[in-house]
Amino acid sequence: MGKSPKKHLERIKRIAKKNGTPVFILDHEKIRQNYREFKESLPRIQAYYAVKANSNPEIVRTLYRMGASFDVASFPEFMIVHNNIKRLSRKARQDFIWDKIIYANTIKQVETLHQLDQYKPLVTYDNIAELRKIKKHCPHAGLCLRIRVPNTGSMVELSSKFGAHPGEAVDLILEAFNLGLVVEGISFHVGSQCNNFENYMQALQLSASIFRESGSRGHTIKILDIGGGFPVRYNNKAKSFRVLARRLNAEIDRLFPKDIEILAEPGRFMVANAGTLVAKVIGKAVRDGKTCYYIDDGIYHTFSGVIFDHCVYPIKAFKDGEKKVSAVFGPTCDALDTISVAEELPELELGDLVYAENIGAYSIASSTYFNGFPPAKVVHINR
Ligand SMILES: Cc1ncc(COP(=O)(O)O)c(C=O)c1O
Repeated sequence: MGKSPKKHLERIKRIAKKNGTPVFILDHEKIRQNYREFKESLPRIQAYYAVKANSNPEIVRTLYRMGASFDVASFPEFMIVHNNIKRLSRKARQDFIWDKIIYANTIKQVETLHQLDQYKPLVTYDNIAELRKIKKHCPHAGLCLRIRVPNTGSMVELSSKFGAHPGEAVDLILEAFNLGLVVEGISFHVGSQCNNFENYMQALQLSASIFRESGSRGHTIKILDIGGGFPVRYNNKAKSFRVLARRLNAEIDRLFPKDIEILAEPGRFMVANAGTLVAKVIGKAVRDGKTCYYIDDGIYHTFSGVIFDHCVYPIKAFKDGEKKVSAVFGPTCDALDTISVAEELPELELGDLVYAENIGAYSIASSTYFNGFPPAKVVHINR
């Protein structure tokens, strides 16, 4: 950004006045800074941006230009990335897909496998049925076995849904080779917004022992994929990414051979602080003594992360004044559309603007058209 917070606020207010509300402002300089910070802190690790966090094609374009790699979870996400390489030569395109894209959804539809096969990507799996499906419908893919690792203390847990039990891992690797497929890597995900770094440490230990056992059975694994989970500074309670990076670097060097490839799938870390939402107060009422504001964005739209991502986005006013605890609701007719029942806000009037920061990840990505209200308009700055 490079500007004072006051100047930045004036700028986003101007953008909202010009474009109308709700408006989702994406700062590409922040995305570039996040990518640089990630690379500097984890020099051995290739960063595969997890497109699911925010699949806006302009974000993918910015990160593509920075030299990033990509984690995709569906064929449409794959094509958003592919759009950037479609003019490369056939060989350069294939090299990019092989070196810089991972299809990191362990469960794939048969139709998707058919679509993917011609691109020969790296794909994840965590069970025998998926392995057989890949053999039949996408035999040219390389494989990465995802294992289940501890998720405690992460804001979003994923281990109940994904990952082979570490005890089954070597059998699943041997089975893949028996089928004539090639397992290139082991992956895990410690849960999103991980505030418990022991999750990573235990996951690295588990992976290292699978590497060793697989090697002793004649199959050397070449890739370690440490997934996402890198914490964002939403508030003072969030743990430091830099501290995590130091621990990861030391533990990876201690446990793994120097010549393996290490990759990560950061989603939230790349985009959370790059998104700011500006909305307008469209209604006001007093209920049980509390002032309730109704704004033109809510839980079914950019604030969907309150439900799906278990995330809290403080609502802030542009104007000053004595603050009191107020409630903030979205515009739809569902009572679930409650952004906050306890927000410290000054007295606002209809037409006043409010904003929420750090709302770039898992927010507009899951916005709906509920009640006929479309997702917020996206405006790019510092592109
Ligand atoms: C397989 C996989 N990789 C990466 C990510 C991104 O995680 P994060 O946003 O915590 O970095 C997710 C998030 O759900 C995921 O499921």
